Amino acid sequence: MRRTQVGIVGAGPAGLLLSHLLARAGVESVVVENRSREHVEHRQRAGLLEHGTVALLRQCGLGARLDVEGIEHGGIYLQFAGERHHLDFRALVDRTVTIYAQTEVVKDLVAARLADGQDIAFEVSSTVVSELDTDRPVLRYVDADGRPQEVVCDAIAGCDGFHGVCRPAIPAAARREYQRDYPFAWLGIIADVPPSTDELIYAHHPDGFALHSVRSPYVSRLYLQVGPDEDIEAWPDERIWAGLQRRFALSGWTLREGPVREKAITPMRSFVNTPMRYGRMFLAGDAAHIVPPTGAKGLNLALADVAVLAEALTAWLRDGDPGLADAYSDTCLGRVWRATYFSSWMTSMLHPLPGDEFGTQVQLAQLRHVTSSPHAAAALAENYTGLTLAPSYRSP
Ligand code: FAD
Ligand code: PHB
Repeated sequence: MRRTQVGIVGAGPAGLLLSHLLARAGVESVVVENRSREHVEHRQRAGLLEHGTVALLRQCGLGARLDVEGIEHGGIYLQFAGERHHLDFRALVDRTVTIYAQTEVVKDLVAARLADGQDIAFEVSSTVVSELDTDRPVLRYVDADGRPQEVVCDAIAGCDGFHGVCRPAIPAAARREYQRDYPFAWLGIIADVPPSTDELIYAHHPDGFALHSVRSPYVSRLYLQVGPDEDIEAWPDERIWAGLQRRFALSGWTLREGPVREKAITPMRSFVNTPMRYGRMFLAGDAAHIVPPTGAKGLNLALADVAVLAEALTAWLRDGDPGLADAYSDTCLGRVWRATYFSSWMTSMLHPLPGDEFGTQVQLAQLRHVTSSPHAAAALAENYTGLTLAPSYRSP
């Protein structure tokens, strides 16, 4: 049996950053993860950091590679009805976003934790959290060598994503779920081809939505709206490129094609669990909420949660003040619902549904509004570039 201050379930971006921030404040943690280090460092997911997320990572010593390899974008393109419009975030709200893949954020975090002497228990199984409503919650798991482990904690952080064990460990009567499933999915590819654009293109097309994002000067990330139950086997590379070519087509502009390195289909869902705390267990990131990727908020929300949580747990466990921990759920849910609203708004504006002519015309009217009214454009830019983080992590 071992003892720690904070037992952290999950070594995704949320769990790793929480452990890092706590260590900097002198609070000890144990991190357990059921996948391998290789797996968590190479899982293709998000790619876009809000300005406040970049400031947070820099402020806690994780800016070195981000500052060299991150690609700053001052806007996005919205394409519809055969036209491509630019939204200039610098002019609209004086802010930018940065392309730096989640894989790289996770690699930086794992390296920083290991350099600090933190033991991350990868490839664990049978994770269980219990005694959550007592002063000594317990984290149990079987380590990579098959030995059962028991860690007695002051608090547990459920950073184990949407399919983890922490949220279901809360009694049903003590929580509430809000959910919306969308009748489409995203087929995403990583292709070894230089991006055909300097900034992201969000395209509305009668065939469906498409997004051109980037990973580096040599690697492109592209997405296509597909049916919710689409089989990836039905999408050979030629079909994907043909679909992308049609949806992005614009006279005088060419979409470069290249070898597809990875492809996968992601379902689209909005989900919020309230409250984000039960007894001495705190949920953070995808364990507590999911947004559809259209607004690029998932990773940013996860990191914002743990910035708040690290401060709250430090005040409580190091300084004896439970006030911020008591406010944790409400503090986070303000931002979570704002991002949930923005992500579902962007999603419903950009994904036409087959046969829904009325809906398509409303989407085109919305797109004309945000590309012609500086007020509407500024509202999109303000939400897209991100809300200000918890007070002590606020960008200068
Ligand atoms: P996760 O990254 O899910 O990390 C949770 C960790 O907990 C995982 O490593 C998991 O292996 C571990 N775990 C789970 N159960 C256990 C257990 N029982 N014991 C121990 N460990 C456990 N967001 C965007 O903004 N843009 C995108 O393009 C985008 N694409 C996405 C594509 C996919 C397929 C998915 C699933 C998500 C995507 N997201 C995207 C969302 C974004 O990646 C997430 O919001 C982000 O990963 C949340 O971080 P997290 O640390 O909360 O959760
Ligand atoms: C990505 O680069 O993966 C990405 C960017 C913006 C989005 C979604 C995904 O809205």
